[in-house]
Amino acid sequence: MSAIFVLNGPNLNLLGRREPAIYGADTLDDIEALLRARADAEGVALTFRQSNVEGELVGWIHEAGLSGAGVLINAGAYSHTSIALRDAITGSGATSVEIHLSNVYAREDFRHKSTIAPVCRGVICGFGKASYLLGFEALLPLLGGAAGKA
Ligand code: DQA
Repeated sequence: MSAIFVLNGPNLNLLGRREPAIYGADTLDDIEALLRARADAEGVALTFRQSNVEGELVGWIHEAGLSGAGVLINAGAYSHTSIALRDAITGSGATSVEIHLSNVYAREDFRHKSTIAPVCRGVICGFGKASYLLGFEALLPLLGGAAGKA
């Protein structure tokens, strides 16, 4: 069975009440339910987590990569700053897709740079909660063969 870790970074626990004009009205629980329905339909083992702590995200990337699971990651603001998350992806070999709810390129300059994008297979941003579903669809076929089967 393919396995995907959906990892959410800082402040994403506030979805639903956090700047809804930018991030939408859905909570992270709503997004998890959406993805879980999709994963169940595809027979994918889904692990869905959120942390405001960089090191915790690093550990979860290791856990995913070393077990052969793929990573769908919305690293929040750490996307723009974290060398540790980038090194966790390369070090663990996790096949990863970066996602964002908002179109980061239509926002402040500091959001235009991602430290993790170069080590991800691709980036999806700007589609709200659909970014998660689109990322899932993009990642799943990359997990064929031994990698990604749990
Ligand atoms: C975000 C975009 C980031 O720039 C921001 O820091 C977030 C959310 C998004 O999903 O649009 O926390 O990752």
